Amino acid sequence: MLFCYGPSSRGKTMEIYVSHAEDHDDQSRRDFLFYATGGAGAVVAGAAIWPLVNQMNPSADVQALSSIRVDVADVEVGSQITIQFLGKPVFIRRRTEEEIAEARAVSLSDLPDKIARNDNLGDVDAEDIHRTLDEAGEWLVMMGVCTHLGCVPLGDGAGEFNGWFCPCHGSHYDTAGRIRKGPAPENLPVPVAEFADETTIVLG
Ligand code: FES
Repeated sequence: MLFCYGPSSRGKTMEIYVSHAEDHDDQSRRDFLFYATGGAGAVVAGAAIWPLVNQMNPSADVQALSSIRVDVADVEVGSQITIQFLGKPVFIRRRTEEEIAEARAVSLSDLPDKIARNDNLGDVDAEDIHRTLDEAGEWLVMMGVCTHLGCVPLGDGAGEFNGWFCPCHGSHYDTAGRIRKGPAPENLPVPVAEFADETTIVLG
C-alpha cells in the first residue's frame, strides 16, 4: 500500500522513539533515538510506521520543534534510519564506500537536476560532495519526500541507480538522492543539518 505525503509508507519495520534524552533504552542496532528540546514522549512501532504517524497527527508541540538532535551512534555503514522532522520523514543514511564511489563517479551532465538542493550550501551544483553532511561523503541526510507528488521513496539500494525508488510513478534516485530517471523534477532536498558531535546530528 502506498501513501502520498502527508508521510507515506515505506513498508519497512522500524521503531521511533520521540523522547527526552533520559529516555534512552536498550535498542537493536536498527533502532534509533531522536530527542528534542520539548514535546511529550511517544513510542510507535511496526511496519506501517508512516501512515500510523500521519494518522496520529503528531502533536502541535512536536511539529513546532524547529530543531532536533538525532543519535546516530548505532547507525551502521550501509544502513539507514528514518526520522520524523517537522511532520515529514527524513532519511539519514550512512553510505558504504561503494555508494560513495558510485555517486562521485557521476557526471553533472547526467543529472536531470544539476542543483544540489542543499539548504546548508545554497545555490551550488549537485556533485556528490555538495549533498553530504561530511566531506568524506559517508553521511547523507535528506527529506524522504519524492519531489514529484510527495510519496516516500523506498531505500536501501532501491531503483535502477541503487539509491531510492519511488514506486508511485517510477522515480529513481541515485546513492546521493539525486533524481536520475522518472517524473520527479528535483533531487531529494537536504535540510539544514550538522554534526553536534561525533554521534549526534542536529536537524534544523
Ligand atoms: S510521487 Fe514519486 S514518482 Fe510520483
